[in-house]
Amino acid sequence: MIRIYFAAGARNWPDYRDTLPAALREAGIEAGISTEAPDPAAVDYIVFAPGGDIEDFSPFTRTKAVLNLWAGVERIVGNPTLTQPLCRMVDPALTEGMVEWVVGHTLRHHLGMDRHILKRDAGWTQIVPPLARERPVAMLGMGELGAACARALAALNFPVTGWSRSPKTVEGIPCAHGEAGLEAVLRQAQIVVTLLPKTPETENLLDARRLAWLPPGAVILNPGRGALIDDAALLAALDGSLGHATLDVFRVEPLPADHPFRRHPKVTVTPHIAADTRPASAARVVVENIRRGEAGLPLLHGVDTSRGY
Ligand code: NDP
Ligand code: OXD
Repeated sequence: MIRIYFAAGARNWPDYRDTLPAALREAGIEAGISTEAPDPAAVDYIVFAPGGDIEDFSPFTRTKAVLNLWAGVERIVGNPTLTQPLCRMVDPALTEGMVEWVVGHTLRHHLGMDRHILKRDAGWTQIVPPLARERPVAMLGMGELGAACARALAALNFPVTGWSRSPKTVEGIPCAHGEAGLEAVLRQAQIVVTLLPKTPETENLLDARRLAWLPPGAVILNPGRGALIDDAALLAALDGSLGHATLDVFRVEPLPADHPFRRHPKVTVTPHIAADTRPASAARVVVENIRRGEAGLPLLHGVDTSRGY
């Protein structure tokens, strides 16, 4: 019998109590799931999430994989006791959610919706937005989520340029890399989306120097991680010519009530809801990796711990 330790925390268990057994049944896998600390030497797979129930992975000597319910792994990848393969969440439903959030917030700024929804202009000033084809977008991070968002925006005619660690082209969408590539991408961007993982290389990527590359009026959407942007530099840029920042993720979550982002007129805060992990589909992703592990097949969505994502 395969033994699964659901160590993603009691908070998450109600979402997986039915969905995980259902996904196992669907895949024809017989397994026992424990939520209480089991004998670590008997655990085949660990289902994990940030804030979960394990700090020390070393006693889990027979564990074939740690299956993270989150896409981001910054809170587990540096754990020195983790020697088991780590897989992260890549799930079509999560990607769909992110595409909707990014497209929705892009269109809000592109169309200048606030003027009318918030009735800031009670008169009849006809400000006609440019067409999407005239609004360059920079997608920092062209992985599972960034590439999907880039494709969706390109399908609406936004000229999208990506930026990633390695050189690549994603279905005709150009993608730069390196510092010079970042500068070129930011200098022409009117909307910037940050969908990078938090790693030592990406922390404070958008600092005062790089924010200054953006044209006046540019808008930042950050559904990646709070630490990608230097908070103080962002506030200073917003007090200057930066147009707006729509932020879903923060260095400290929940965002403290007295944080300046809460009251800045050019900041929109959403409470880390850009793309939640959806239990029914996420359970299938977890189970597919268990099936693969048992069949001796390569696991999906493995994390390169040396890269940090
Ligand atoms: P991926 O690992 O698939 O993609 C990461 C991308 O970032 C890749 O294109 C990668 O480049 C690029 N990258 C990494 N490091 C660097 C670097 N130093 N310089 C330039 N580019 C870099 O991740 P996902 O797309 O699945 O997710 C991205 C992030 O989104 C997650 O890590 C998480 O933080 C966040 N997220 C937020 C959610 C929310 O609700 N707000 C929900 C889910 C995820 P390359 O392609 O060359 O490897
Ligand atoms: C994730 C997230 O990483 O929700 O999955 O941020």
